[in-house]
Amino acid sequence: MMSERSDKMITPNLIEAKKRTNNDVLIKTNEYIVKENLKQLGFNKKYFIKTYGCQMNEHDSENIKAILEDMSYTKCDNMEDADLILLNTCAIRENAHNKVFGMIGRIKHLKETKPHIIAGICGCMAQEESVVNEILSKYKWLDIVFGTHNIHNLPNILNNAIEKQELEIEVYSIEGDVIENIPVKRDSKYKAWINIMYGCDKFCTYCIVPYTRGKQRSRTKEFILDEINQLISDGYKEVTLLGQNVNAYGKDLNDNYRMENLLADVAKTKIERIRFVTSHPWDFTDEMIKVIKENKNIMPYIHLPLQSGSNNILKLMGRRYTKESYLTLYNKIKEALPYSSITTDIIVGFPNETEEDFNETLDVVNKCKFDSAFTFIFSPRNGTPAAKMEDNVSLEEKNKRLQILNKLINKYTLEANESYLNKKVPVLIEDYSEKNKDYLIGYTDTMKLVNVDAHPDNIGKIINVTITDVKTWSMNGKIEN
Ligand code: SAH
Ligand code: SF4
Ligand code: F3S
Repeated sequence: MMSERSDKMITPNLIEAKKRTNNDVLIKTNEYIVKENLKQLGFNKKYFIKTYGCQMNEHDSENIKAILEDMSYTKCDNMEDADLILLNTCAIRENAHNKVFGMIGRIKHLKETKPHIIAGICGCMAQEESVVNEILSKYKWLDIVFGTHNIHNLPNILNNAIEKQELEIEVYSIEGDVIENIPVKRDSKYKAWINIMYGCDKFCTYCIVPYTRGKQRSRTKEFILDEINQLISDGYKEVTLLGQNVNAYGKDLNDNYRMENLLADVAKTKIERIRFVTSHPWDFTDEMIKVIKENKNIMPYIHLPLQSGSNNILKLMGRRYTKESYLTLYNKIKEALPYSSITTDIIVGFPNETEEDFNETLDVVNKCKFDSAFTFIFSPRNGTPAAKMEDNVSLEEKNKRLQILNKLINKYTLEANESYLNKKVPVLIEDYSEKNKDYLIGYTDTMKLVNVDAHPDNIGKIINVTITDVKTWSMNGKIEN
């Protein structure tokens, strides 16, 4: 049981965050409680939350919104109007950090004129020892800091900060449990994120996630399937199964139920669209490919991070596959699912990456012709093994490599999109385009963004669209009657 009230700050600890034991993961179903006297804490008050980082953080923010609304806070979209400001942060690269500290500066300014504002940070940066030390030395005027393991305790954390009128820090550097029954206020009425596992045990040498999110913990299938069945009865069309490494789903549970079994069972619920992210190439099994092929409601879209095409660099990254085994897997997927789109993540400028190593990456890109890719310059993260390696590729060289890589990726993205011209594809229509209200936007089964002529009746439906025009980042289409 987490303490409800403690006058001692609980701050993150890098050594603890690294630890992995064989202790059983506890499934806790009764952790989230809003005490009677806190149900009106946010009466007549507005909250503003800004989310950085991955889908998992987006989903955590959906939980935070629901918790705050259970305490009578109402949402506002303008930070200037808020009584409570939360930044749900990401620690994956330095620029994510910098953005957050920039925002903290703006909040300080706001608090100078409206001192009643309660402001805080949560998410992955809050789990970092160095970040919390920085907050303690330079930003003590913040009100709350809480981590990824105790979102459910937000009512008490918030109340403590308000009562004490000083910075309340509650961050646990633990392997973590599985907390069920946290409420959720979903951003979409048609698409839903579903956590199927938390944490990560891969410890890729550059990555901070295993330290900020704890050990790999799979949710049991009953909770996952119940959540999906509820979503179906609420009219949802699409679920995305979330985890840092979803293909390893179930490996930490004491049975033989794995990702392929879960995918098959989720398909049986008859939800119209199933997606899953992220797939680590190491755990992608033939059985999974078979299940994806056999079930029309599992979308032909796979995000398969490559990181590097050089075996030397992959080894230094601790990725557990080689260029050759990645290509074998890629070809196996494409053979079984020729229509599928495959996207990737690539890091350039990892320590010791030579021109030759980089060319190996380009070679894989030329062979795979990815539908698209997220590309990054290596960013050393405090406490990770790669941060101790000599960061010996010059910034100029890193930028040059990123540019060359992006140009090649964009060429293949456009080529992939061109193959859709004049074809009829199913699109889940989501909303009006923010850029141009004459259009609606939606995604194909293969995750391509499509603009179509607006007719509000189509929102929330999966409609056949004929593609009339393609660009690198989006396509235009017309709805077939
Ligand atoms: N669990 C996912 C990755 C999550 S992080 C996986 O294993 O594929 C998303 C992406 O951020 C990673 O795929 C990687 O390309 C990038 N990334 C992670 N740490 C990074 C770092 N220190 N510097 C630059 N990019 C990084
Ligand atoms: Fe990070 Fe690797 Fe885990 Fe992905 S698999 S979250 S890159 S440690
Ligand atoms: Fe960022 Fe944490 Fe996600 S570091 S990418 S928000 S798991």
